[in-house]
Formats: sequence, structure tokens, C-alpha cells
Amino acid sequence: MRVGILGGGQLAQMIAQAGANLDMSFKFISPDPKACAAPYGEHICADYQDEQAYQQMLEWADVFTYEFESIPKSVVESLEKKLALLPSSKALNVAGDRLKEKRTFNGLGIPTANFAPVDSLESLQSAVEQIGLPAILKTRSEGYDGKGQAVLRDVSQLEAAWQSVGQVPCILESMVNFSREVSIIAARSKQGEIVYYPLTENHHREGILRLSLPLQNDPYQQQAEKLAKALLDELDYVGVIAVELFQVGESLVANEFAPRVHNSGHWTIEGAHTSQFENHLRAICGLPLGKTDAINSCAMVNIIGKLPREEDVAAIEGARFHDYSKDEKPGRKIGHITITSEGLSGEAFNANLKCILQLVGEDPELR
Ligand SMILES: Nc1ncnc2c1ncn2[C@@H]1O[C@H](COP(=O)(O)OP(=O)(O)OP(=O)(O)O)[C@@H](O)[C@H]1O
Ligand SMILES: [Mg+2]
Repeated sequence: MRVGILGGGQLAQMIAQAGANLDMSFKFISPDPKACAAPYGEHICADYQDEQAYQQMLEWADVFTYEFESIPKSVVESLEKKLALLPSSKALNVAGDRLKEKRTFNGLGIPTANFAPVDSLESLQSAVEQIGLPAILKTRSEGYDGKGQAVLRDVSQLEAAWQSVGQVPCILESMVNFSREVSIIAARSKQGEIVYYPLTENHHREGILRLSLPLQNDPYQQQAEKLAKALLDELDYVGVIAVELFQVGESLVANEFAPRVHNSGHWTIEGAHTSQFENHLRAICGLPLGKTDAINSCAMVNIIGKLPREEDVAAIEGARFHDYSKDEKPGRKIGHITITSEGLSGEAFNANLKCILQLVGEDPELR
């Protein structure tokens, strides 16, 4: 199969790496001349609006997928007419707009934070009256890694927050007092078969994911699967999805979903029978889905801004270094490290995980 991917970052890179086992070839559209996926296929170095680039892709690809949500609507429509775009534009439309996303969750009976649309300073003031403080102002589209967000604790901050998010359409969300953050990653095939990965516990700092820990037999697994299924069926979804959740008391509250492979599922490369990247390809290419069980305990730590030394990672038993070959830059995800428990005692696993957290400049007691 020939797979076209919109985007050439680390998600596209890891999808293409997974495809090597499946006799697939890849082309990427990305305006970045240093796109890190490029060595794994053919890189069409072009702007995301470039008609010619899409033409080139359409003539070649059997199926087309994407690694990020902010694809221009006109591009999506023309792609969908000529070729299978998976996950479909329906999923992309909902995921690309926080207001539609929250309304979709609520329409399926899935709870979310309280929210209100904001499109001016005046409507922000009335949203604050309705939602209360503290709250978070988020741009409806194009946010990632906590970008396009402002936390509001006091009414004196409204104007500055509205300026800081760029005065674009937003939602105001109540601050959720959660006991933990988890995500459920699932894959749905063209026939509607769904497989679920073990629930993953996620730890963020400054709005950026730092640590993911897949959980064995978590008591909330079923609740998470049920809500993911409702969403997948509603969207007639094909591919991998990630639903980010807050646990509040004994309920799971939906934060958002990503219509693609997800950072909190990177552990599946070493930690599960079939990685999220492979299952995404299997789903969009009409192949049977692979087993999602965890092989053993594992954890994934993101490398943000600065790479650790390769030899320091290699010295930690059970650690696997993923360097995305991206330039170092503060706040940028440039790699991750997975540790699996195979051959390690529980104590050694925990001690090694702490070493990894320290190596990447993270608090070793993060979890
Ligand atoms: N309503 C909320 N209440 C409490 N914490 C929140 C809320 N919304 C977001 N957060 C915190 O900020 C993090 C990032 O928020 P969110 O997932 O909405 O942003 P994002 O920019 O889409 O991030 P990413 O792309 O990394 O998932 C969340 O994982 C959570 O830790
Ligand atoms: Mg998120």
C-alpha cells in the first residue's frame, strides 16, 4: 500500500517506521525542509496549501492520513473527493474545534468541564459570570502542548488573557479539579471492529506531557472503553484515536480527543504486542487489527528542549532512546525514552525510571 501523510514530524516518522514491517511506502507533505520523517519515504517539501503537492500525492497514494489536526478545510474537501482520507473529515472537523468537540462529547452523554463560547471581550466577561473562576480560556482551534491557552484566576486578568490568545474564537472552560489524567487509545477498523490499549496515566507540566504510564487492569478501563466506543461509532471512525480524560471522583470527564496517533501511546512501540502506529496503518489500509495487550510494565518519558547524552540513556537497563532528529529548542518535543520492565525487578524498574526523569531534567518524583 502507498500511504500519503500530511505532516512530516515525529508522528509521521513513527508511522512510517511501523509501516516498514507491513510492506508499505510513504510520502509526506511538509513545508519543513528538515522534516524528521523525510528519511522514511519521499518528502514533498511544500506548503500545506500547495495544490500541486496534493496533486502529486493524489496520483500516487492509495490512502491519505495526517499527523495534526489543523488542515485547511478546502484541502480536506478536495482530498476526500478523490481519495480515502482517514480518519474522515467528520472526525477532523470535530477534533479541530474545541467547541464542537465538547458539544459532541456532551451529546453522547460524556461529561466535560463546563464551557462557554467566547468571541469578544464582552462575551468573555459573560462566560466568566456563567462558568466562574478559576477557568481556562482556550482557542477553539490550533492549540497544542498548552499553546493558545490562558488560565484565569481573577477578573482583573480577562483583558490580558483575551489579548494573549490573539483575540480569536475561544471557549472558556471551568478548571477541573481532577485526581489524575488518563488517556484511552483505541483503533477502529473499516468494518467497525474496535481494539483498546490499556488505559495510560499521564503527567503534564506547563501544559506539556512529560510522563505516560500504561496501567494494568485499571478499574476505569471499562468506563473509558465505553465512552471511546460511543465517540468512535458516532464518527464512523477509521484509524487510531486518543481520548484524553480527567478522573474526578469516580467519573471520567473528557478533555479532548486526537484523531490520530498520540504522544501518550508512544510506549506501545516497545510495550504492546502491536504499536499504535502499526494499528493505525492496519486500520486505514483495511488490514485486520493487531493485539493491543501490554507485553510488560513500561513507561514513556518525553524529551523536551534538550537531548540527553546517548551513552547516559544506554547505561540505563531497559531504556530505549527515540531521537526524532529535530533541532533542540526550549519547550519542543524532540524525542522520548521508553523503559520496559522485562528482566528487571519492580524496584529496579522504578529506580531506572527515576534516572530517566532526571536525565531529561524532570522531577524524579513526578508521578
Ligand atoms: N479544564 C481543565 N482543567 C484542569 N486542567 C486542564 C484543563 N484543560 C487542560 N488542562 C491541563 O492542561 C493540559 C493541556 O490541555 P489540553 O489537552 O486542552 O491542551 P492541548 O494544547 O491540546 O495539549 P495537547 O496537544 O498536548 O494534548 C491538560 O492535559 C491538563 O493537564
Ligand atoms: Mg491535550
